[in-house]
Amino acid sequence: MNTIIQVEGLRKIYGETIAVDNISFEVHEGEIFGMVGPNGAGKTTTIECLEGLRKPDQGMIRVLGLDPQQDGHALKECTGMQLQESNLPARMRVWEALDLYASFYPKTANWKKLLVQLGLEEKRNTPFSKLSGGQKQRLFIALALLPEPQLVFLDELTTGLDPQARHTIWDLVRDVRARGKTVVLTTHFMEEAERLCDRIVILDHGNIVALDTPEALVRKLGVEERIVFTVEGTLPPDFEKAISGETWLEIQGDRVTIHGKNSRKVPLVSEVVNLLSVKGIRFHDLRTEQPNLEDVFLSLTGREMRE
Ligand SMILES: Nc1ncnc2c1ncn2[C@@H]1O[C@H](COP(=O)(O)OP(=O)(O)O)[C@@H](O)[C@H]1O
Ligand SMILES: [Mg+2]
Repeated sequence: MNTIIQVEGLRKIYGETIAVDNISFEVHEGEIFGMVGPNGAGKTTTIECLEGLRKPDQGMIRVLGLDPQQDGHALKECTGMQLQESNLPARMRVWEALDLYASFYPKTANWKKLLVQLGLEEKRNTPFSKLSGGQKQRLFIALALLPEPQLVFLDELTTGLDPQARHTIWDLVRDVRARGKTVVLTTHFMEEAERLCDRIVILDHGNIVALDTPEALVRKLGVEERIVFTVEGTLPPDFEKAISGETWLEIQGDRVTIHGKNSRKVPLVSEVVNLLSVKGIRFHDLRTEQPNLEDVFLSLTGREMRE
């Protein structure tokens, strides 16, 4: 496993604000690495230090073996960047933007092909200001991919997009990985991180609160799963005791929620369904709710992501 990015003891302070507080992590070749956390967590500051756009106060950073502060030029030639606050002149047409950006690099991908890949071919003559949010984001991804970079940085690439546009962008990012490239992205959508990233670092107030694969984070914490159903009549009083392991029951009218750890031998749902039928209890609308990264964040920080 090749290390593409190495960060040790990175710290960045703005006046009184410690934006990034002594964090260390590595990014491996060929992975989609996500930096996740609420607004103000320090994601943009971190990614911009990696890109060489901000100067750290402390710490060591190597990106593709280069120091972003010393070797900024060399680094820009082998990385692609999409910034959180990107913009282009309103009247610049899609093809003009690509043509202009292509002139910045000694060697670039064929931008006509990129247009097709990103579904922007029909928009090639459209001015920037006439593009939809999703089309603008796709254009910025195209610009980031133009230098055929080994490494692509994407900061909040789907913020403000509708669900359909978001899915299209996720597919694009997966395509980038499939071509052997490494992707570092930030998002404040836990679902996005969970669906898209191979490994994620969860940041909060400039600190790393967790770093692993999404699956391992959920598993390691042993976050509970929930079985929810409506019951006809009432549950017998001994029902809760009949379920093995550590569980607790919540009853609201005819709605029952059973909470249990998700690291069990027999899945909680099979046990509950079995017990309901053995006891002849009629129920409807049974579903399971699996723990997700949102739950992980809550259990690590005691707060919701979006407050
Ligand atoms: N240029 C700046 N000057 C002063 N404070 C900043 C600047 N950029 C970011 N901050 C502060 O640093 C913290 C982290 O911000 P940022 O890295 O943008 O977080 P995120 O991208 O996770 O939302 C926030 O408290 C933010 O207000
Ligand atoms: Mg940001």
